[in-house]
Amino acid sequence: MSSNHSHLVSSEGASLPEGLEQLLQRRSAWPLGLPAPNGQEFSAILQAAACAPDHAGLTPWRFKFVRGGQRHVLLERVLSHSDAQTDEAKTMHGKYTAKLTTAPLVVVLAARLKEHPKAPGFEQMLTCGAAVMNMLNAAHLLGYHGFWSSTPGALGDILKDVMGFEEQDQMLGLLNLGTPAHTPTTPPRVSAEVFAQEWV
Ligand SMILES: Cc1cc2nc3c(=O)[nH]c(=O)nc-3n(C[C@H](O)[C@H](O)[C@H](O)COP(=O)(O)O)c2cc1C
Repeated sequence: MSSNHSHLVSSEGASLPEGLEQLLQRRSAWPLGLPAPNGQEFSAILQAAACAPDHAGLTPWRFKFVRGGQRHVLLERVLSHSDAQTDEAKTMHGKYTAKLTTAPLVVVLAARLKEHPKAPGFEQMLTCGAAVMNMLNAAHLLGYHGFWSSTPGALGDILKDVMGFEEQDQMLGLLNLGTPAHTPTTPPRVSAEVFAQEWV
């Protein structure tokens, strides 16, 4: 490991690089308001997605993002869609209003999987998840909060269409970015012994 990192003393007394200490404090937050990442910061957040491990270099993630007043234009397009007028879809109008207009910056996430002899679809999905996680971590390191939320039901399909994703794309939800009114405390995390054991 490089010796160039500045070090802090962790709660258990071990010395950890400051970046790792920060990473261990990441948590999701909702609702999110301003400030949102600025253009340069958001570029860095997107670039972090490209650091995901990617078997065969397929770049299987696809994102579109919306912010400011355009969020309301998008919402209107989704809610006024003919497929959004069924009784079932209407029960989701309120939920999608919150999903699309609460955070100041909303990244719509999708996977575009390809046939590949060495990189099956599930690996490409894992790559997409890693890409989004890298963005959550990058946002956190910049001092922002994120919240990954789902896009269930017919309105999710409409959103996919309205945003201009391709038919083959699979929606992976929304990555909301911004700042909570109050910084939430990090919840206790499951201890590593629960999910990792040394084989001896
Ligand atoms: C793909 C995906 C979709 C999610 N969708 C939702 C959602 O729609 N609503 C929700 O309350 N949490 C959802 N979550 C969970 C939150 O993003 C978040 O991880 C959870 O509240 C725990 O917070 P933490 O990230 O600080 O551990 C989703 C997580 C993932 C990975």
